[in-house]
Amino acid sequence: MADAYILGIESSCDETAAAVVRSGEKLVSNVVFSQIAMHQPYGGVVPELASREHLRAIVPVVRKALADAKQTYESMDAIAVTQGPGLAGALLVGITYAKALAFALEKPLIAVNHLEGHIHAVLLEERQKGNHTLNFPALALVVSGGHTHLFLAEEKDSAWSYENIGHTRDDAAGEAFDKVAKLLGLGYPGGPVIDRLSAHGDAKAVKFAFAQLKHPDRRSAKTKMDDKKSPPCRKERDEDGAPGEGEANSLRFDFSYSGIKTAVLRYVETHEMKASIEARRTALAGISKPTLDDYLANCDKQTLDLVASFQRAVVDDLVRKTLAAAAANNIATLLVTGGVAANNELRQTFEREGARAGVPVFFPSRPLSTDNAAMIAAAAYPKFLARDFAGMDFSAEAGMVLR
Ligand code: KG4
Ligand code: ZN
Repeated sequence: MADAYILGIESSCDETAAAVVRSGEKLVSNVVFSQIAMHQPYGGVVPELASREHLRAIVPVVRKALADAKQTYESMDAIAVTQGPGLAGALLVGITYAKALAFALEKPLIAVNHLEGHIHAVLLEERQKGNHTLNFPALALVVSGGHTHLFLAEEKDSAWSYENIGHTRDDAAGEAFDKVAKLLGLGYPGGPVIDRLSAHGDAKAVKFAFAQLKHPDRRSAKTKMDDKKSPPCRKERDEDGAPGEGEANSLRFDFSYSGIKTAVLRYVETHEMKASIEARRTALAGISKPTLDDYLANCDKQTLDLVASFQRAVVDDLVRKTLAAAAANNIATLLVTGGVAANNELRQTFEREGARAGVPVFFPSRPLSTDNAAMIAAAAYPKFLARDFAGMDFSAEAGMVLR
């Protein structure tokens, strides 16, 4: 079969991204325009601003992806776009543009689930390295600012299907990083800062206990689990997660990260850290791009210990539950992906504990861990082969479920 060039477009949250991927196995170009700086003053993504910025960025970002790939609109074999989950207004910008391109160019249009994209980021890079064999059963942990999901992934005749066997009942893990960083005056997004600062603190200093979720060993009666509706996008302002209705105790490997955020808040209150936090917030707000040294100069030992202990607790919980799910399902391959998969301690712990448990663990490179469009173009390739094309009438699905 001749090579197929797919143009991927991603606009579900606060990154406008376009990429060209050849036959699901070669990243030809990858352009990500991040809006983080614009949302930073608000401490989270402002949906209306996100849509406006996507509108501004989408055309130049797509043009650059084609130029970097030394390709043209006409040389693309298909246009792939994120349908959901994400912010409806943000998704619509990518979808509308992709539809217009597909219509004008008379190319097939492929709708992709963002979570499936994160999973295929790992597969794309493994193929690119020459690793074409994926051993099944495969388990994927998608852990980002909006999601903490465990999926059993299956491939039959190049069609993929997924079964959700666990998810967060409240906050996503990345959301906890973001909220704790905000609480401690460390700015937004929280994951990368906490990742770097944790190496300078004592992770054993503060003990965090995770509440035991009830009936952890019971599996849902449904075979294809209806996911909890995903939060529309990560780190939306002032949004607090709540358990999905009627689903208590129904999943086998659930997560919960809103309690640890409250525990950090309690610690801050009982240890009277508020004044020093405000001083840090003001100091860091005055620096346009704070470096690690700037952060360190504004953090005392107590804060560094707290941050390191928080990260250790979240990482240990993610790894423990995921490996328990892997053991229970005789998993041959574990894929760990999404923004939080960029975390150094998470990678090291998964590698160490995965090796101990005899489960090979694969991650995307850091640039493909966070949101990008290469993952969308890669996930679209099996659909391209199966001629699973979208009509012109499909729309954004903010709470789209992956099956
Ligand atoms: O996948 P992503 O770009 O967007 C979503 O689909 O949500 O993930 C962004 C999330 C944010 O919550 C961010 O704080 C977190 O990933 N993140 C990290 C790291 N880098 C990004 N969390 C922990 N450690 C990191 N190094
Ligand atoms: Zn994502």
